[in-house]
Amino acid sequence: MRSDRHKSGAPWRNFHGRVHGKTLRPRQREMLDEDLAPLSPGPVGWEENPDRRPLDLAARFPGAREIWVEIGFGGGEHLVAMAARHPQVAILGAEPFVNGVAMLLRQIREAGVQNLAIHPGDVRDLFDVLPEGSAAKAFLNYPDPWPKQRHHKRRFVTPGYLSALHRVLAPGAEFRVATDIPDYVRQTLKEVPAAGFVREDHPTDRAWNDWPSTRYEQKALREGRAPHYLTFRRV
Ligand SMILES: C[S@@+](CC[C@H](N)C(=O)[O-])C[C@H]1O[C@@H](n2cnc3c(N)ncnc32)[C@H](O)[C@@H]1O
Repeated sequence: MRSDRHKSGAPWRNFHGRVHGKTLRPRQREMLDEDLAPLSPGPVGWEENPDRRPLDLAARFPGAREIWVEIGFGGGEHLVAMAARHPQVAILGAEPFVNGVAMLLRQIREAGVQNLAIHPGDVRDLFDVLPEGSAAKAFLNYPDPWPKQRHHKRRFVTPGYLSALHRVLAPGAEFRVATDIPDYVRQTLKEVPAAGFVREDHPTDRAWNDWPSTRYEQKALREGRAPHYLTFRRV
């Protein structure tokens, strides 16, 4: 009989996305080996932190005015641009797709930004170990759309993910969602307020002032789909 936990003690969490894409080039593998450890936010994995001790963010980022979180950074272009634009904050990014992580590492080297950390895995593992109320902003950019009705429960904007996000955000923290999928907007407008957020009133076709755009947004625009931008505040 399957237990509800891994050997490490980690709960089974269904992840339906891709973890590997094209074979990594030797240079990318080298960067993963060299750069990932120094960019760790601290012990996030269940093997290294089975007791789920909260991360010591003040020690990891002395002097950072705020901690922000990016969920599923993809190729990392938003994460690096925001870190460069906001040097006074530290941004934690989570992404299980290893090819995306490799793309981010190249950009970090080019931009020379240091006010960020990467968890190369499921954001739920990062949420477990973020202290309650520790983050002042969260970004969900072009989340996996899961278009089939029976897959809507896999979307990030569902109670399990949202309650974990709510716990790690401080009261008044901002939660930004960008998507090109009208049905994702529908579900976001229903589920996010139900999870303890209020919506900010602004036109949904107007991007945030510091929005750098992303690969998935560029793809959506090329394919004729319109971006929607939604802002919420954690109550
Ligand atoms: C459609 S892509 C968008 C990538 C990027 N944000 C952009 O706008 O270009 C969605 C990303 O979310 C990531 N993702 C899905 N579930 C996740 C989870 N539980 N934790 C972290 N990232 C996740 C996927 O691996 C994928 O790279």
